[in-house]
Amino acid sequence: MKESSINCVIFYFSQIVTGNTKRITEQIAEGLWSGGHCELIRLTKYQNDIKLIQGFPFEEYDLIGIGVPVYYFHPPYHILFELEHFPSLNGKKGFLFCTSGGNPGSTLYQMKKVLDKTGLKIIDGNDKWIGWDVHQLYARQKNSNGLYGWLPSSYGHPNEHELNQAKEFGRILIKKTLDPKISEKIDFWPHENASAKMWSWKGIQEWFPPFHLIKEKCTLCGLCAQICPWDAIILNPYPHWIKNCDRCYICHLKCPENAIKCDFSKQIEYLENLMKKSEKNKY
Ligand SMILES: Cc1cc2nc3c(=O)[nH]c(=O)nc-3n(C[C@H](O)[C@H](O)[C@H](O)COP(=O)(O)O)c2cc1C
Ligand code: SF4
Ligand code: SF4
Repeated sequence: MKESSINCVIFYFSQIVTGNTKRITEQIAEGLWSGGHCELIRLTKYQNDIKLIQGFPFEEYDLIGIGVPVYYFHPPYHILFELEHFPSLNGKKGFLFCTSGGNPGSTLYQMKKVLDKTGLKIIDGNDKWIGWDVHQLYARQKNSNGLYGWLPSSYGHPNEHELNQAKEFGRILIKKTLDPKISEKIDFWPHENASAKMWSWKGIQEWFPPFHLIKEKCTLCGLCAQICPWDAIILNPYPHWIKNCDRCYICHLKCPENAIKCDFSKQIEYLENLMKKSEKNKY
């Protein structure tokens, strides 16, 4: 393998509202382009993604990257389930990364655990990049500009420094891919805190609020169903939530008519209490 012949592909998921992982992915690709070729594949909807993965010519690539946002201290569950569909990747090298509001938990460890079944050798990973966190849990948080609705410490991220780091990460990956003695990265953080345990796949369905449609407001525009990454909403003719999902609440956030109601009051209380406790523990 010559340096100029490294062929890389990065699969990534990134929400349409924030696009943090997308920005980091593009910088990693920029770094990788300095020594080879890098293709970007944006994962968007569960069924389509699986078809794409199953028909993908992995044999043409030397290095396979996967990037995600962190959801509830896990990879978004639909992506974790998609990883189960990756074919045998014996002899291939890979890398993992994520963006988070500041606490990625064991996200990369969980991804590696699934990918280990494919034989992909993970040679690097980064879970330190922060991304602007706009979860509805932060509805009562105020940032330095006096604006509400996101985790204050995540505002402005990923910043210039993080984007440069991502580019450098890409450059270093070229060297690591070319190194025949490169060892597997096995030191990903494996532990789950109490909230991570509570927010298991089953746990998030029970703990987070359900969706209520205000029919009088809904114009049947279909946007919610179109943007749901889980294909969890069908129109008949009004939207129906038909299965368990990521609880990303992008349908709720993006509805142009504000026709979807979710009551986050209990969850906001829980999070604010946690934040108060961790502030106290600092001193
Ligand atoms: C549903 C949801 C759950 C999240 N859970 C966490 C979390 O457990 N820990 C954390 O640090 N950030 C969390 N975040 C923040 C995102 O990981 C962060 O904003 C990320 O950069 C979003 O990436 P994206 O813009 O590429 O989608 C969560 C965000 C959402 C929407
Ligand atoms: S996005 Fe809102 S208005 Fe459009 S179909 Fe969905 S609920 Fe109705
Ligand atoms: S919260 Fe809404 S957009 Fe997100 S996965 Fe569930 S149904 Fe789909």
